[in-house]
Amino acid sequence: MERKYTINEVAQMFQITTNKIRFYEKKNILHPQRDMENNYRYFTEDDIIKLQAVLVYRMMNIPIEQVKDMMVHYERENIINHFHSQWKYINDEIHRLQLIQNCLEGMMDTVYDCPALLGDSLPEQLLPFAQNMNNLYQIKNSWKDRWNFDDWATSYDVSVKNNIGRLGIYKNYERILDTVFDQSIKDKAPHSKILEIGVGTGNLAKRYLTSAFEFIGIDQSREMLNVAKQKFPNLRLRIGEFLKIPYPNNYFDIIVSTYAFHHLTDEEKEIAVAEMVRVLRKDGRIVLGDLMFENALKKEELYSTLTQDELSEMEDEYYSNIDMLKDISNRFSMNLSFIKIDRLTYIVCIE
Ligand SMILES: C[S@@+](CC[C@H](N)C(=O)[O-])C[C@H]1O[C@@H](n2cnc3c(N)ncnc32)[C@H](O)[C@@H]1O
Repeated sequence: MERKYTINEVAQMFQITTNKIRFYEKKNILHPQRDMENNYRYFTEDDIIKLQAVLVYRMMNIPIEQVKDMMVHYERENIINHFHSQWKYINDEIHRLQLIQNCLEGMMDTVYDCPALLGDSLPEQLLPFAQNMNNLYQIKNSWKDRWNFDDWATSYDVSVKNNIGRLGIYKNYERILDTVFDQSIKDKAPHSKILEIGVGTGNLAKRYLTSAFEFIGIDQSREMLNVAKQKFPNLRLRIGEFLKIPYPNNYFDIIVSTYAFHHLTDEEKEIAVAEMVRVLRKDGRIVLGDLMFENALKKEELYSTLTQDELSEMEDEYYSNIDMLKDISNRFSMNLSFIKIDRLTYIVCIE
């Protein structure tokens, strides 16, 4: 016969209050049965397993309504969707708290070192730290997918194959991906940890699948990740953005990205490079295959050869200026080298 538990027994089992269990009953998450003989409510083994899941999800800070949805719609796709949402939420929080911690660090040193504080309640000497924190927070959280990659996901590979657009940016697509792959792993030890940012439908990622490398792909578009996962079920994929990489410091040996970096403005690119350097190990390497100009002069020269339609297509994206990337890399004591693929596409290696 199936074992039955009273509410007190369940509370004791999980070291929680009976009120907490009643709260989940009220929320319609737990449904204990009533014993007809003594009219007490009792919990079955199934209820216990359910409660265990609820407590784990709550500990992971998943909102109660989402937990309820996970219990009611216990399907793989729904569960993974909730996990993705929570992963994103937790990562945003980590980045927000990290900014606060950095700000506090600077403020504390300043207060310790200042014989007298200027101004009223917020000492003047501390303002730059607050402004820096606020500025970074705004930039990191203002990026929007105005290209609508979720909608593009299922037809993206066809677009690439047909080399869509007036500029023909996908003309050398396979060659770019091959070169990024080769450059990224050159002289690197097997089992190196690799991060791809803007993994899209997994076309670059698949090149790492047959190797011994530990690969993780991130993308801001859930639909892109779904397509990539359908094509390559063994890929390890997560929601993530250039400006808030969801991994700790010094975590990867190699970072790669193709056709994604040009969705960031120059200001965002600076933060993205800082983010990549943050998660990169010492002696790590960043390889970006993307739409770029060598410098402002070369950009002018190219612009003068383009039609109005081509120019307007180009202005929908933010091509990188390699000279600017060089300056940013130098600030992190890293060197930049590049390979020109065609008039619009380059491969940049920062190490
Ligand atoms: C044009 S597709 C390129 C996909 C793939 N890398 C390739 O080479 O085919 C751009 C991809 O970058 C992703 N992306 C754009 N901006 C991003 C950002 N700020 N953070 C993360 N992913 C981003 C998009 O969601 C999309 O999947």
